[in-house]
Amino acid sequence: MWIARLSLLLCLTLLITAALSGCVPDELPVNPDDLPDTEQTAEESDGEETASDETSAEETEEENTDLEDAGDDAIASPILPTVEFDYVAYADTNLPAHFRNAPAGTASVVQQDNTPADNAISNSGATLGRVLFYDVNLSANNAVSCASCHQQAVGFSDAAVLSEGFQGGLTGRHSMALSNNRFYTPGHFFWDHRADTLEDQVLMPIQDSVEMGMTLDDLVVKLAELPYYDALFTNAFGDAEITADRISKALAQFNRAMVSYQSKYDQAFTQGVPGQGPDFASVFSADEEAGRLLFEQTPANGGVGCAGCHTGVAQTATQAHNIGLELEDTDEGAGNGEFKVPSLRNIAVSAPYMHDGRFANLAEVIEHYNSGIQNNANLDSVLRRPNGQPVRLNLSQTQKQQLEAFLHTLTDSTLLTSPLFADPFPAQ
Ligand code: HEC
Ligand code: HEC
Repeated sequence: MWIARLSLLLCLTLLITAALSGCVPDELPVNPDDLPDTEQTAEESDGEETASDETSAEETEEENTDLEDAGDDAIASPILPTVEFDYVAYADTNLPAHFRNAPAGTASVVQQDNTPADNAISNSGATLGRVLFYDVNLSANNAVSCASCHQQAVGFSDAAVLSEGFQGGLTGRHSMALSNNRFYTPGHFFWDHRADTLEDQVLMPIQDSVEMGMTLDDLVVKLAELPYYDALFTNAFGDAEITADRISKALAQFNRAMVSYQSKYDQAFTQGVPGQGPDFASVFSADEEAGRLLFEQTPANGGVGCAGCHTGVAQTATQAHNIGLELEDTDEGAGNGEFKVPSLRNIAVSAPYMHDGRFANLAEVIEHYNSGIQNNANLDSVLRRPNGQPVRLNLSQTQKQQLEAFLHTLTDSTLLTSPLFADPFPAQ
């Protein structure tokens, strides 16, 4: 019945009293049983031009009651700040020095930026992207939004091993956490790298038959029927035209704005004396610092070499790897059982882990690297001993706890709670 309310609200808003059946979009992929009875729509709308400014409180109440009587929830408009949030400041101007500079011979975080020349983050573009990201209208039956499977409180991931799509079907892999998407030089997205760019990626869940079940043509028509997109597209792109390319650009801008740089780990850099490096000693506990050294240093230097793949100060990767989860691959991933790894920012809140969500907590992940690596034919050479056998770290219980304590310092509660990335739609 959502479509009845959509047309009703639209008609009221536009004060159209004639040709009401014209307000019922006829090209949307809905179950015919759900299509509104046009006469009933006309009856309900008759004489109820209550969306105008002259509406009395009484009439509004009456209208609300009518809408409730109609069944499901009314179409909600997003609540946006009067002055746009400053995504450019958050994700660009305010990036800390340790994201901009890097030791000689290594790439800084900002040098790994995959932003294309024609889609830099703008405040209006990311604002539109935020509304699209949280809008259930992107799915065929208004059951899920991007945020259903990418929830802010858990690092824009999903606590479920596999996520539920618009009709309750399950995704083939575990949902990915979304921080620092912007800083990945290969520029490919998904666990198996199948999207060549973020702009390509963001349109794929919309059209996926399990996830959102829409066609882009139908989506463009559907969004044009919603009252709030005119102004949002105009602000972002200069006119109200809705195209798949603009939807893609705005969603990609919002995703790239999800940068994480305010964790406890980052505080060590911002508190350090410029030119003298980070001050881990005063920010970290002894266990966190011991865990950091294990994570960052190579085996030759007493560490376990995690940073060989989870590189740099944003703990991002530079390519896909095979980490020996299985002896024989049941999922080839990007080829040869190699998988992309998202930034480890907010890793402590985004369980379960890996492309198939096989590990329920960080202790299980650490135990995999410690004792569980399988002798897969394509196991990454970093995880093999010179004799060809998989690495066995033989960590003590204390060392495992220290590694875990370090991973907890990568939690960035600013990104997890910031209104810039929160749901703009009123609670239903
Ligand atoms: C039904 C759940 C679901 C919905 C809805 C969904 N996603 Fe995802 N998303 C996933 C899963 C699962 C993956 C990993 C799939 C894979 O790699 O095969 C993923 C991967 C991604 C990635 C790749 C991240 C990376 O590091 O490569 C991005 C970006 C993303 N989704 C953004 C979005 C956007 C934007 C939307 C809305 C237009 C959306 N998702 C809707 C479940 C979902
Ligand atoms: C050879 C490269 C490599 C090394 C070394 C490595 N990792 Fe990983 N890591 C990966 C890849 C690739 C994945 C994703 C694998 C998958 O899902 O199939 C991953 C996944 C993870 C995840 C889960 C990420 C998620 O979002 O689900 C954690 C946590 C993690 N690694 C921590 C560590 C720690 C701690 C170490 C050191 C003990 C380490 N890694 C060493 C490549 C590596």
